[in-house]
Amino acid sequence: MKLLKVRGSLRESAIYVGETLRNVSGYIPVERTVIITDSNVAAHYLGDFPPCPVITIGVGEKIKTLETVKEIFARLLEFGTQRSSFILGIGGGIVCDITGFVASTYLRGIRFGFVSTTLLSQVDASVGGKNGVNFEGYKNMVGVFNQPEFVICDMELLRTLPENELVNGFGEIVKHAAIGDKNMFAYIEDQCDKALALNPEVIEKLVYDSVVIKSGVVNRDEKETGERRKLNFGHTFGHAIEKTIQAPHGEAISVGMVFAAALSVKRGLFSQKNADRLTGLLEKLKLPASFDINMDDVLDALGKDKKREGDSIHFILLEDIGKAVIQEIPITEIETVLKTM
Ligand SMILES: NC(=O)c1ccc[n+]([C@@H]2O[C@H](COP(=O)([O-])OP(=O)(O)OC[C@H]3O[C@@H](n4cnc5c(N)ncnc54)[C@H](O)[C@@H]3O)[C@@H](O)[C@H]2O)c1
Ligand SMILES: [Zn+2]
Repeated sequence: MKLLKVRGSLRESAIYVGETLRNVSGYIPVERTVIITDSNVAAHYLGDFPPCPVITIGVGEKIKTLETVKEIFARLLEFGTQRSSFILGIGGGIVCDITGFVASTYLRGIRFGFVSTTLLSQVDASVGGKNGVNFEGYKNMVGVFNQPEFVICDMELLRTLPENELVNGFGEIVKHAAIGDKNMFAYIEDQCDKALALNPEVIEKLVYDSVVIKSGVVNRDEKETGERRKLNFGHTFGHAIEKTIQAPHGEAISVGMVFAAALSVKRGLFSQKNADRLTGLLEKLKLPASFDINMDDVLDALGKDKKREGDSIHFILLEDIGKAVIQEIPITEIETVLKTM
């Protein structure tokens, strides 16, 4: 097991990579804890939970709402949850985002922690202190910045994760390596098959290295005023794809990264050879390099992106594998590159 510390403005968060769910009792005041989980995670792992009251929510983005938060508040009241209580979220990104928001607002904030059960939440969602819910169809519209006391990343839980969910996590892992660590990138290229087979040693290293990169960026820029934007590599275009077709997040950002690499090459920042390495690695991890979609619709969605300033968009580009830069790109240039793809 490895321990990493992330500094937030309110508190420090301890991330335990390779710890197990079965040991979570050692991290919480068991007699004063309430657990929040979802129905899939409960179906697999309820037997391993500590003996605490459990609030089970449904699954999917549609339940990440204020209505769910309200129902959880009501249950917390029923359980007599107080300022001295603790809330433990056991689940993927949705459970963690909701748990963080509930714990930060109930009684103006009580202690909380996570056991992260998806690859995506281990490498991304449970690190960095963003919590919240969707509102009126807008993703993550309402929320707070607040760090959990701890995050446990238990690799064994990933064995029951459906393959498409694993692939979402691999998309973010490649993103982290591409923006922050060329040695990690080369390691993934080497160990691809073992990573896909969830070899414990390989997957633990990938989760750890990802958390190092994300937490490093977050430590330097918790509230996303500058450097944190680099974590959006592949996401500007990826989100536009997600708005256009119902693509899974990992697949959309995979294509987004390929596009950002093409833009980087076009701008003379990045070599074609490295762009090909990125595409090759994504494909080895079963992620797509392109989609058959209407480019006008994607452009339309891009135009509505909140990172747009005037007729240009803030884009995260690569200068090298492991080195990202933020540049403003005119929409017309994006159109030109898109037409060549
Ligand atoms: N806060 C952040 O910084 C941040 C970053 C990235 C993503 N997110 C959010 O995270 C959410 C996506 O997270 P996610 O991909 O973990 O999705 P998720 O929480 O919906 O989990 C994916 C699916 O896997 C199931 N599942 C979870 N753990 C399992 C296990 N061990 N075995 C079997 N099934 C399991 C869930 O029930 C669900 O059906 C989105 O809402 C996104 O906005 C937040
Ligand atoms: Zn993402």
